[in-house]
Amino acid sequence: MTPLALDIPAIRRQFPILSQSIDGHPLIYLDNAATTQKPRAVLDAMTHFYETANANPHRGLYALADRATQAYEDARGRVAAFINAARREEIVFTKSATESINLVAKSWGRTLEPGDVIALPVTEHHSNIVPWLQLKEEKGIELTWIDVDEKGRVNLSQLEKMLEEKSMKLLALSALSNVLGTAPPLEKIISIAHRMGCLVLIDAAQAVAHHPIDVRALDADFLAFSSHKLYGPTGIGVLWGREHLLDAMPPVLGGGMMIDEVHRDRFTFADIPMRFEGGTPPVAEAVGLKASIDWLTQFPWKDIEAHERALLERAQRELSEIPGLSIVGGKTAERSGSLSFTLAGIHPHDLAELLGRRGICVRAGHHCTQPLHKYFAVPASTRLSVAIYNTEEEVLTLSSSIRDIQPSLR
Ligand code: ALA
Repeated sequence: MTPLALDIPAIRRQFPILSQSIDGHPLIYLDNAATTQKPRAVLDAMTHFYETANANPHRGLYALADRATQAYEDARGRVAAFINAARREEIVFTKSATESINLVAKSWGRTLEPGDVIALPVTEHHSNIVPWLQLKEEKGIELTWIDVDEKGRVNLSQLEKMLEEKSMKLLALSALSNVLGTAPPLEKIISIAHRMGCLVLIDAAQAVAHHPIDVRALDADFLAFSSHKLYGPTGIGVLWGREHLLDAMPPVLGGGMMIDEVHRDRFTFADIPMRFEGGTPPVAEAVGLKASIDWLTQFPWKDIEAHERALLERAQRELSEIPGLSIVGGKTAERSGSLSFTLAGIHPHDLAELLGRRGICVRAGHHCTQPLHKYFAVPASTRLSVAIYNTEEEVLTLSSSIRDIQPSLR
């Protein structure tokens, strides 16, 4: 049973989108790993910014520009506190988690030399694979892959062996798989990597709305996430990096505000974080991100975790009783965020489309993880992913709808 610590009906009422129906069916939104819905507090904060403070930050000398600058920098401070960064300057605003990882690959990655090694678990999202493949093409670095077991757990002894044998510069891994919903033991992995002088980048895009993140306790080197999976707006992401690492990195985007001086034949660049934020930044989005963090952190993490764990445990129990249904990575009590499955003889796209006609939103396909799907020998899967506002009734409706639909698709 869902613990009563969170008042889910009251939480749901704060999300205007959730009260609608789709073709007469109540909306059941279970695609939260793709993007979360936004509470009224976030929508209001962004509207209030546009109605009272909109201007281009760090440029104007008038009251509105001061307000916009203040709002943008307040958001940076709020993000720094949220992930326990040592300094606000370690927070770089980007467009997305994808752009954050690309920034590390395209800036820090320039220092790498042919033969340097970057390691990734096979479970990674394309956004934590393709930037490194691009770097491999550009710089001749080597990419090496870490296996996982049948439940998606990283093979730690293989990782240790690789670290001993290769000159590994970076281990880049997700804090929570967007397909399996499994989380690697980050602190242990980071300490193993650091012992061998290897940096660690964490893709926290999936984890950020489900578990607290403390970059200092983790002892990570880089961490990326996006606002839109954290009940905030699209269009803004975060790269956190240790100050000395960011400080040594050149800018990638050239333009306004990232410079110190520009001459006809040369330029010098600004300090961190502005060095990486060329162009007009996403100010209203930063305001929305701050509001989303303020909103989410009013609830104790232990209550969020317990509620979402109960939802996924119920989903596992119900779904695994459906004939022909198989959970990718098997049943586990350690799952959070996402659960993916296949249904014998039925293509996930067909299932997701028919569920969609009943107002149930799930994702189908490879979920931007083709190597993972190949590794598990599953061409495609259907995924449900939960958020704070989901209910066990929704999970039960999903399960009974799959049973209803199944015969028509065979
Ligand atoms: N990365 C998002 C997902 O897995 C889009 O759905």
